[in-house]
Amino acid sequence: MDLTRAVIESFHNTENARLRQVLQSLTRHLHAFVRDTAPTAAEWEAAIGFLTAVGHKCDDTRQEFILLSDVLGVSMLVETINGTDAGTESTVLGPFHVTESPRRELGATIDLLGGENPCVVSGQVRDTEGNPLAGAEIDVWQCTEDGFYDVQQPDRQPPGNGRGLFHTDDHGRYWFRTVVPSHYPIPTDGPVGDLLTATRRHPYRPAHIHFIVKAEAHRPVTTHAFVAGSPYVDGDAVFAVSQSLVVDFAQSADEEAAARFGVTVPFTWAQFDLVLAKG
Ligand code: BEZ
Ligand code: FE
Repeated sequence: MDLTRAVIESFHNTENARLRQVLQSLTRHLHAFVRDTAPTAAEWEAAIGFLTAVGHKCDDTRQEFILLSDVLGVSMLVETINGTDAGTESTVLGPFHVTESPRRELGATIDLLGGENPCVVSGQVRDTEGNPLAGAEIDVWQCTEDGFYDVQQPDRQPPGNGRGLFHTDDHGRYWFRTVVPSHYPIPTDGPVGDLLTATRRHPYRPAHIHFIVKAEAHRPVTTHAFVAGSPYVDGDAVFAVSQSLVVDFAQSADEEAAARFGVTVPFTWAQFDLVLAKG
């Protein structure tokens, strides 16, 4: 009996059918990969050393395995497999949703540093039939105009900077103030950074704001609003851009809207509606 078949059969008595299926499939694909690449003993040792280093880099605020899954496109693949065709497209969670977003009133700012270029983000949360979803929860997080999350700069940014937890009004609407985030590099000071360097890949993500939106009796969506025209919008290091999520962060001179949002003209205005599927 060949080796691959013997390993597959060794899982035959696994009671949990899903676990059996996953392990047998893993064996088939892993053995095919090893046959295909035919590593030397030294190369296999290096591969184990790499995965060990990925594990050692993980702690409470750093998840190098998620980063590895991100740069290999696996995080995005899992999102795609589990997403629905209906509603706003989902994309990767990323490793910076590590603290709870502070609850804020509609219209509040998430920019606690007093940035110079005010930006308003507004929109409506609806179901797939177009009905507004009142009281939907909107969790947002983003980096600064310089490209850093609060948790990356605990000495420079107050906790909760760039983060907010909002609830839509009776018409499903939300709006908050912020600054336009920058494109930024994913963390490169670990083995995943070494992998990018060795393969001459850049580490940059296009500018974006993260969203997790939840409403009762609907499927939650984890997504981003990408800043149209941002560097890397056509070459995200983690393959997470969908065209439907690219949003115009437009300059506005609308005095009436500015007064409503508590900013002065000119301001940047991003309008991003979110649609949740029933579930
Ligand atoms: C992020 O957008 O926060 C992110 C996503 C994947 C890898 C690194 C960062
Ligand atoms: Fe991000």
